[in-house]
Amino acid sequence: MNGTPAFDNAALQEAAKRHMWLHFTRHSSYANADVQIITRGEGQYVYDSRGKRYLDGLAGLFVSQIGHGRVELAEAASRQAAELAYFPLWSYAHPRAIELAERLANYAPGDLNRVFFTTSGSEAVESAWKLAKQYFKLTGQPSRYKVLSRAIAYHGTSHGALAITGLPDIKFPFEPLPAGGVRVPNTNFYRAPGFVADDLEAFGQWAADEIERAILREGPASVAAVYLEPVQNSGGCFPPPPGYFQRVREICDEYGVLLVSDEVICAFGRLGYMFGCERYGYQPDIITFAKGVTSGYAPLGGMIVRDHLMEPYLHDQTSFLHGVTFAGHPVSCAVALANLDVFEKEDLLGNVRSHEGAFRATLEKLSDLPIVGDIRGDGYFYGIEMVKDKATRETFDDAESERLLRGFLSHALFDAGLICRADDRGDPVIQLSPPLTCTQEHFDEMEQILRSVLTQAWSRL
Ligand SMILES: Cc1ncc(COP(=O)(O)O)c(C=O)c1O
Repeated sequence: MNGTPAFDNAALQEAAKRHMWLHFTRHSSYANADVQIITRGEGQYVYDSRGKRYLDGLAGLFVSQIGHGRVELAEAASRQAAELAYFPLWSYAHPRAIELAERLANYAPGDLNRVFFTTSGSEAVESAWKLAKQYFKLTGQPSRYKVLSRAIAYHGTSHGALAITGLPDIKFPFEPLPAGGVRVPNTNFYRAPGFVADDLEAFGQWAADEIERAILREGPASVAAVYLEPVQNSGGCFPPPPGYFQRVREICDEYGVLLVSDEVICAFGRLGYMFGCERYGYQPDIITFAKGVTSGYAPLGGMIVRDHLMEPYLHDQTSFLHGVTFAGHPVSCAVALANLDVFEKEDLLGNVRSHEGAFRATLEKLSDLPIVGDIRGDGYFYGIEMVKDKATRETFDDAESERLLRGFLSHALFDAGLICRADDRGDPVIQLSPPLTCTQEHFDEMEQILRSVLTQAWSRL
């Protein structure tokens, strides 16, 4: 207990179990267990309804870049709500959305100058697809509608975004999905095919060339866009091999396909840059963003678009026939501006760049554990892949994975005071994505908790 006011945990538990429907959650697991109720946050830590403290090693859900409990963001929200709580971006504009659009355009590389706001990442992903489809209809290429994305990649849950997502298990219950989603390989070098398993660059070229092969297979005149995260989240943080994005850019240019950099996680400092594409030196046609733009103090998402994609929408009776009520909400935009002020005042990008080596080195200490197969990532974004046999890289079967991840690790890590993600949507991984304010003491705390819990997990196998 850490001296936070205790809530009436019993009453909250009862009401939560009776009335809440949690996302991606097996409610059966609460039959004999408490719901984990988080009540407040401060810096890199959050507290639960019993007053217990946890290191937020996942920044909520890859969101809380500046950490919790920042009064200046709460005040920005309050001031904006008093001045103008709501007005739509349908035909109108308001000052905070204008200021934020200009600021994002200034941060974004090249001629990414137009900002279309949404309320979430899924909406941003889906909006980019709609923009691309209408753009190609306006420019005389009406047959382009397909979108390529990578195996196991997560791009959101609304029907359109789910068609782009590459996780069969979460798509299946909702099929048929909109037509046009096509999968290409991801950049998991740890699981690279044998013929490129010893050569990272050759692996990257092969993975990029697979995009070209998919375009040719589908018919170039039918392909609208390819969606790629700078570092793929799902599957456990796959950074791009050197040269990968440069080759992808060439392919997109050759076949007239739009390159969408889905930066819902990777933007706003996660990789030490405002945008992940800057870290790896490529120019997208569209950046999709959400999460870290407000550090979660209010919901907001959007896309930043190159000038030429707006061009056909600027004339005569044409408009982008798309919008949502709360997109670019004034309070969210005011919060985003205050969030970006914190980034600049506290040099959070610099903090990530100067500490990321120490973060990696601290996590790499775990590689002496027999269960740790691979540690990968960049910036403040890491995945630890667990294996049954380090030498052969043999992974766990479904039953072992179920016992290990759901039966033990998720609860044990939480009980030990670390919020992170144990995920088996690809091979089993633990993911870390802490607030950008973290320093060595937080890295050490993560390492110590992981060491102890992973050691216990191994002894249970
Ligand atoms: C890369 C990526 N795209 C899209 C989304 C969907 O965002 P949201 O949950 O805000 O709809 C996510 C969410 O985690 C994501 O990681």
